[in-house]
Amino acid sequence: MIHLDALALRFTSTPGNTALWIIDQTLLPLKEEWVLLRTVAETVNAIKTLKVRGAPLIGVTAALSLAQSAMKGASYQQLTDEAQALYAARPTAVNLMLCMDRMTVGIASKKTPEELLDIAIRLFNEDVSLCENIAGNGAKLIRNGDHILTHCNTGGLATAGVGTALGVIRKACQQDKAIHVYVDETRPLLQGARLTAWELKKLDIPYTLITDNMAGHLMQLKKVQKIIVGCDRIAANGDFANKIGTYGLAVLARYHGIPFYVAGPYTTMDWACADGDRIPIEQRSASEVSGVEGVFGRVEWAAPQSPAYNPAFDVTPAKLVSRWILDCGVFTGKDFQHGRVRQWVSQGALTI
Ligand code: MRU
Repeated sequence: MIHLDALALRFTSTPGNTALWIIDQTLLPLKEEWVLLRTVAETVNAIKTLKVRGAPLIGVTAALSLAQSAMKGASYQQLTDEAQALYAARPTAVNLMLCMDRMTVGIASKKTPEELLDIAIRLFNEDVSLCENIAGNGAKLIRNGDHILTHCNTGGLATAGVGTALGVIRKACQQDKAIHVYVDETRPLLQGARLTAWELKKLDIPYTLITDNMAGHLMQLKKVQKIIVGCDRIAANGDFANKIGTYGLAVLARYHGIPFYVAGPYTTMDWACADGDRIPIEQRSASEVSGVEGVFGRVEWAAPQSPAYNPAFDVTPAKLVSRWILDCGVFTGKDFQHGRVRQWVSQGALTI
């Protein structure tokens, strides 16, 4: 019997049966509903609609879904097509592509369903330990009494483990540092207000929720000592994509002289992408900007038929980043320029 347990994902495998469950994150925090993903088509839909979300977690979920399909008897051709559909479900977070590439290598070399399942399990377990390492590395930068601003959700709901940026905060709290977290609500889908606030409350970590446009005001009042965010893709030069609004925070941080940290696993590095200009940015529906949808139904607040622009991510240039907190260490811009990050990352990478 195999049993994997994360905050937002559960997977079991017994002889002749597998089950992949996710918590439907679009319903949080009002409703905690676990949904069974029986087919790859259901997983693709869950990724597109953000029922499951966060760069590392979508990769791991996609890998387990593909392995489940193999265990249910899908042909190699079907698995190849399904890997492609999962790969294309969202364009920005590179973890999804990396996980699909690793599964595809296994499919192409005609690994058995059990061997494919083993790859997916290793991807899950790897993410758990990458998160632990990021948390340990990042917590060293946090001081007792720090007020830390974060954006979007980068915790247990976004990964198989303790999270990235939120994992750092969590670890610092476990080290008995008195931390206060300012949580950006993160328009338009409110991952901060709905998900990060939910996680921090569960963890008993003190926080204050703010709307995104209050961040600059707080910095001006010297109420923020550090900013820590996650990432969906880090380019070879250290530029990175993260939830829309991150770039604005980085600019504000530089103006106010506040350290700006980005935390992520090496699985978010894309060496084939030379700089941030080449990172594909997901464009989402105008309806996410013109109103809101949830367990309460749909509320429309914009003037009817207003055109709206809805990029899900933005790119922060490396020159605005104080430190990159990765699983293999804490790095500076110079480390990127001199190839040191690549050297360290290649030593820690999982070989499948
Ligand atoms: O659109 P989402 O909710 O998947 O966006 C998530 C983020 O931008 C996170 O900051 C990122 O994936 C890092 S999660 C550890």
